[in-house]
Amino acid sequence: MSFKKVDPEHIESTLSKLTLEEKILLLAGKNFWETHDFPDKGVPSVKTSDGPNGARGATFKGGVTAACFPASSLLAATWDLDAAKKIGNALADETRSKGARVLLAPTVCPHRHPLGGRNFESFSEDPFLAGKLAAQYIHGLQEKGVAATIKHYAVNEQETCRFTVNETVAERALREIYLKPFEIAIKEANPLAVMTAYNIVNGTHADSHEFLLKEVLRGQWGWKGLVMSDWGGTNSTVESLNAGLDLEMPGPTRWRKVDEVLAAVKSGAVSEKTIDERARNVLELLAKLNCFEDPSIPDERAIILPEHQKLIREVGSQGIVLLKNDGQLLPLKKEKVAKKKIALLGFAKEALIHGGGSASVNAHYRVTAEEGLRRALGDDVEFKYTKGAHTFRQLPLMGDNVVNHDGKPGWTLDFFAADEPSGEPSSSTSAEQPTYVPIFVKESWGSVRATTQFTPTQSGNHYLAMSGLGRSKISIDGKVVYEQKGNCYDSMAFLLGGVEEPEVQYPFEASKTYSIEIQTVKPTSKGGLSMLDGLIGFRAGFMTEQDHNEDVLSDAVEVAKRSDFAIVFTGHTPDWETEGQDQISFNLPRNGSQDRLVAAVGGANPNTVVVNCTGVAVAMPWLNEVKSVVQAWFPGQEAGNAIADVLTGAVNPAGRLPVSFPHALEDAPAYGNFPGEFKDGEDGRRQLEVTYAEGVFVGYRHYDLSEEHRSKVLFPFGYGLSYTTFTHGNPKAVVTGDTSVEITVDVTNAGTTAGSEVVQVYAGAKLAVPENPVKELVGFAKVPVAPGETKTATITFATRQLTHFNEQSKKWELEAGDYEISVGQSVRDITGKANIKLPALSYDP
Ligand code: BGC
Repeated sequence: MSFKKVDPEHIESTLSKLTLEEKILLLAGKNFWETHDFPDKGVPSVKTSDGPNGARGATFKGGVTAACFPASSLLAATWDLDAAKKIGNALADETRSKGARVLLAPTVCPHRHPLGGRNFESFSEDPFLAGKLAAQYIHGLQEKGVAATIKHYAVNEQETCRFTVNETVAERALREIYLKPFEIAIKEANPLAVMTAYNIVNGTHADSHEFLLKEVLRGQWGWKGLVMSDWGGTNSTVESLNAGLDLEMPGPTRWRKVDEVLAAVKSGAVSEKTIDERARNVLELLAKLNCFEDPSIPDERAIILPEHQKLIREVGSQGIVLLKNDGQLLPLKKEKVAKKKIALLGFAKEALIHGGGSASVNAHYRVTAEEGLRRALGDDVEFKYTKGAHTFRQLPLMGDNVVNHDGKPGWTLDFFAADEPSGEPSSSTSAEQPTYVPIFVKESWGSVRATTQFTPTQSGNHYLAMSGLGRSKISIDGKVVYEQKGNCYDSMAFLLGGVEEPEVQYPFEASKTYSIEIQTVKPTSKGGLSMLDGLIGFRAGFMTEQDHNEDVLSDAVEVAKRSDFAIVFTGHTPDWETEGQDQISFNLPRNGSQDRLVAAVGGANPNTVVVNCTGVAVAMPWLNEVKSVVQAWFPGQEAGNAIADVLTGAVNPAGRLPVSFPHALEDAPAYGNFPGEFKDGEDGRRQLEVTYAEGVFVGYRHYDLSEEHRSKVLFPFGYGLSYTTFTHGNPKAVVTGDTSVEITVDVTNAGTTAGSEVVQVYAGAKLAVPENPVKELVGFAKVPVAPGETKTATITFATRQLTHFNEQSKKWELEAGDYEISVGQSVRDITGKANIKLPALSYDP
């Protein structure tokens, strides 16, 4: 099945039946996920769903379960275009199972900095690798009749102040790096929809950006489809309509109220023609998705499909990257570990399957590493588990030993119309825990007060913390012990549960009863909280001093000492690596606890393996203390099986890094320009400003500049080990018809285990030009090779890929001359070179 052919006559006749008011209504969502419908005029609505690694459906947390696929940074590490297509195919079924026909994915913005909060849901630091994979993912999705929404267009490489940050980026870097994955995927796979970014690009919000939307996307790239805003990411009425933003999401509208748009039409600020154009794009999307013939929006269903389970496991294991394997400690084959003791530490019993935010799904299930290893290795091995490190981010909600006004366990929540919670509440309710999250709520209150009587069972300086959308505080027996003076810094981070909450301690005595009161007032209107501006919300957490400060490390060291092998599972939970904020540290959380665990276990057991689940590079200060390290990203619901497959050798690791891993954060190319600097804005608000000062020298393009730069890299782009060894021979490059280059190289599996090699082809001018990267990825091939076998890999690329954007002439240009083709196993491990001569090239964007 593919898309319905659009019948222009039907579109025009439908359009002509709608009044101007109705057309305006069509330009914003009806509700959180669906477009507006007018059943009596024959206009249905269509449902959208997040997101890149699973179709979550309408509920943010705890909804109908869904299949959880590997996150895109893992998918990128497979370097496997077929895998991307298969995932797209499977996601089409998943999207339909949630009653939706539009998937809000893929996310393609390049990884600019290792702390980027959403890097995990995007592919790579390299725009070519990202664009190629995204194109296949979109093909897979769309050939099964589900629309892709490529996002977030554009320059959304950080989460800090994402609604308001101004990203200053020169046109060359914009074109060559930040727009490139969009350009490749849009030209190759024609996604039906594009989602704009929240941020400001060179002074203009992305949703109202004439250059990005009109000139580049619809003009130069000739793309015809629907542009929707990110959720709450519409920032103007007139400008966004004129620039080409068809659909404001979610609904109900904030910027396209019928009266206001009518006034804009009346004043001539927006033409009726523009309204028609925007409405036509919405109708055409409905037509392509067959909504006119079949307007149904079926209920959400949880369907576990064996073929999806298999795919998730296979792709999961293919994207895992073996970073270090001294003395061939891995694989831990059955024979090797029979009758032995294996210590499992860290996240062995909590599968880290996805990052946080809109890319998280309520997975059908999550296979933990412990389960995966037990299944793979059987009863012949003795496993000993202990966690060994505190990794919580927020304190758990304060729900124990609390009694509300009615004498029942829990809290009383009182809501007030006024901005201060005093006098008689307008409404009251009880709650088990002190939290109120204002998603899908209709009421808008001025303030809320939560009260309880708390009787601790243990004495101690216990910990408290909270966050509120607006100004908030906690009082104990009438005394303020905690205060959040301003608005929460990111509404979506709040909504999705990942806001940083400073902790305070308070001396409690066991069996004594304390009156606890929490207050939150409505955020100020200039809060920069997007769609949650003006809504009430809060959460409050508690932990005893004993639990908070318990020494869990000593036990782990003991367990490791008494074992033959130790495997430490490190990583980021969805609270630590999430949409809505960037990581607070390059070191694994919390406060270095995981680094201490790995170092101590490595010191206690000479056969220590680390399996790291993050979507990004992290600091590895303990690298010399352990023999093996595996980067497992976020592998989806089959995580434990995929990890066990690699650890035990059932799968020979074939993943290669889609990002460079620097030694230290100071070595990152964007260091000093991430997440930017606050400047005082004209309206008194502080404005975050970021300059993409590194230009096109992002990721390996920076580290490749000199020996000094190269020394800053712990593991280079494209790197990954295997349980076998591959050699390359006889590299040849032939220019065909001046427009493309064909490279052939012989790949030999020189070991005794079957495996796959990722042959990477980089190209650059023979005499390096300082303004240009030394070399750039132009092609790659994943080649399965049997032991002793030699295969010839053929990789072709277009000479256009070698052009650079000239900001003066506004053209893509290539100088005539000698170019060097480098074939390698990573950007650093070049196995062979070939030279070609190319004629000059110059063309319009
Ligand atoms: C995210 C989008 C997502 C949308 C709907 C936004 O916060 O940036 O990627 O599709 O929410 O959940």
